[in-house]
Amino acid sequence: MMTLVGTVRAGTGDFDRSLLAVFQPLPSEMPSADNPITSEKITLGRMLYYEKRLSRDRQTSCNSCHQLSAYGVDNQQFSSGFKGQLGSRNSPTVYNAAQHIAQFWDGRAEDVEEQAKGPVLNPVEMAMPMPDKVVETLKSIPGYVDAFAKAFPKEEQAITYDNMAKAIGAFERKLVTPSRFDAFLVNDDNALTDDEKAGLKTFIEAGCITCHSGSGLGGHMYQKVGLAKPWPHLQDDGRFSVTNNEADKYLFKVLGLRNVEMTAPYMHDGSILTLEESIARMSVHQLGRQLSADQVESIATFLKSLTGEIPVDYIKETTLPEDGPDTARVIQAINQSGTGT
Ligand code: HEC
Ligand code: HEC
Repeated sequence: MMTLVGTVRAGTGDFDRSLLAVFQPLPSEMPSADNPITSEKITLGRMLYYEKRLSRDRQTSCNSCHQLSAYGVDNQQFSSGFKGQLGSRNSPTVYNAAQHIAQFWDGRAEDVEEQAKGPVLNPVEMAMPMPDKVVETLKSIPGYVDAFAKAFPKEEQAITYDNMAKAIGAFERKLVTPSRFDAFLVNDDNALTDDEKAGLKTFIEAGCITCHSGSGLGGHMYQKVGLAKPWPHLQDDGRFSVTNNEADKYLFKVLGLRNVEMTAPYMHDGSILTLEESIARMSVHQLGRQLSADQVESIATFLKSLTGEIPVDYIKETTLPEDGPDTARVIQAINQSGTGT
């Protein structure tokens, strides 16, 4: 059974359900054949997600930029990482992301496991100099020796950079946030208010579903930003930077719209502050049509029904294991190793 969020007004029950075929409810987890989800991996992955010792200056964890209690974002245009350096893209949410076609705005990582290896070594994010140093740090912490052995029991060398990513990935694969919209899709006509149903109809009729469909209302394809009308001031080539294919210029992953009410600012460059402005501009630049203020408001009302429940128990921060006798020395050596600033 789906628990309902907020108060619900009785619906009219006359929504044409055949219009809903382009959507699916969220799954309870987003599995991977290559990385089976186990409770031991989740326990370890959760610890690593909150682990600041995966960063060079022990200040930054995944949760710094993707705050799990804040719908997986930090609500900044650009996030600051190592020594306060800013990235050049907005931090997308980690909730419901594992089911996307690929990870990052430009899809340069195949899945969440590959993705998790990126930020730890990214010089403006967690800035570790190389995978070996991350492994050395983890091996120096007895609690991790234990937790990796439990999560990867068949492997002689349980602490590897790949296994770190697998554990984080397994944890992320259960970060799902079902909302009243799912209850509506599953058959509860009263799960959405009349206004939300009207907004859903506007969303469908306006053509947003050409790109925003499926269980994430996005996340399953790349599309050109400015498809119908060029988007002004684009600085970022998007998927072109991955493929070097001219046709991929300004293509970005269609962002999923789950929890979009909570994940401002919007777009890959965080350039739009409000949901209403995103909706209005999407319509002009992606579909070539101007929506009235009422239509924008109506779509916004619907999109807010996609705000789901944060799995508070699942994301609860655990006590992280203490440094071992060698940890301080390992970290000091990393900081003296030269690369980075
Ligand atoms: C300093 C801020 C920062 C830190 C720390 C950070 N990220 Fe990110 N994350 C970002 C940004 C910015 C992007 C988008 C970058 C891009 O698309 O080029 C991103 C993208 C992602 C995505 C892709 C989501 C999607 O919809 O494509 C996932 C998943 C993710 N990060 C998980 C993690 C994990 C796991 C960690 C810890 C190992 C982490 N991040 C650490 C800022 C951060
Ligand atoms: C042709 C494909 C396409 C259509 C049609 C489309 N979108 Fe989008 N949408 C995208 C892409 C691609 C992005 C990511 C943009 C970026 O990276 O800058 C996006 C992003 C968004 C965002 C910002 C999400 C975030 O978290 O930053 C919102 C909100 C949105 N779309 C709503 C809509 C609405 C409402 C409609 C209908 C009026 C619509 N879109 C129509 C492709 C489309």
